[in-house]
Amino acid sequence: MESLHKPQLRPEEFRLINEFVSGEFGFILDESRAGFLSSKLAPRLTELRLETFSDYYAHLKFSPHFSEEHKKLLSLITNNETYFFREEAQLSVLNAHVLPELKEKKSRSQDKKIRIISAGCSSGEEVYTLAMILLESSHFLWDWDVCITGIDIDTEMIARAVSGIYSGRAFQTTPPHLIERYFSKCDEGYQVKSSLKRLTSFKVGNLLRQESFDSKDTADIIFCRNVFIYFSEDTTKKIVENFARVMGKDGHLFLGHSESISGASSRYLQVRYPGAIIYRKRD
Ligand SMILES: C[S@@+](CC[C@H](N)C(=O)[O-])C[C@H]1O[C@@H](n2cnc3c(N)ncnc32)[C@H](O)[C@@H]1O
Repeated sequence: MESLHKPQLRPEEFRLINEFVSGEFGFILDESRAGFLSSKLAPRLTELRLETFSDYYAHLKFSPHFSEEHKKLLSLITNNETYFFREEAQLSVLNAHVLPELKEKKSRSQDKKIRIISAGCSSGEEVYTLAMILLESSHFLWDWDVCITGIDIDTEMIARAVSGIYSGRAFQTTPPHLIERYFSKCDEGYQVKSSLKRLTSFKVGNLLRQESFDSKDTADIIFCRNVFIYFSEDTTKKIVENFARVMGKDGHLFLGHSESISGASSRYLQVRYPGAIIYRKRD
């Protein structure tokens, strides 16, 4: 018979597991996320036949399979949900305001290079969405050097992004003519065509570590949407500081619509557009 025992996450256990997460992955979960952590980990405790979160903490530290468990923990506490053309209002601001302005500025200085980062890209839908927007906008023609780089801490997500095969919910808000233009049908669903793929690159990296970013290239635009939701203010602050270091002058930062960095950094200026707020790096 199934056990009805439901483990309770005590404050001390939350602190221990959070310390572990911080030491291993670098980020600190906000204290308000104790309920979230408990609900995410409880099924794993059942699978492992562990009674308490303290047992789970010991398992993380001392199990002979600890490295596998660390990966499992990471994918349990991070949310990988994503889809093409997510949060339309921001994408419209990118298309109607940010890209034309960027094109004009770069053309004036004869610098036909555009670098965009999707920080916390999950399985890559945001990266390919940005590539489609760029190609459809016709702002950047064949002689521009364009690269959109997706970075994520989750190795499995980056492998999916590189494979570029999608189906079902990933396309929930994708205009059908764009599926037709940029994907070919395959057994598992649809595969990204090379016209899109050639504008992209992917890497496994932790946004808290400066070495996750390419030191040669400055970023013109960073998308970091739906990543800060479960982080403490301190963790968010460190990540936006890292962004400021890799961003060029007037670089633009897009966050998820419910996320804000107003308390976390003075390095950016808030710019309001209808339906979206974005952040511009101060000089
Ligand atoms: C909810 S998804 C967001 C995907 C996409 N940006 C979007 O809005 O559709 C959040 C992603 O952030 C990644 N992530 C969380 N913490 C990270 C960190 N410290 N470094 C890199 N990626 C991280 C997770 O692995 C997850 O794939």
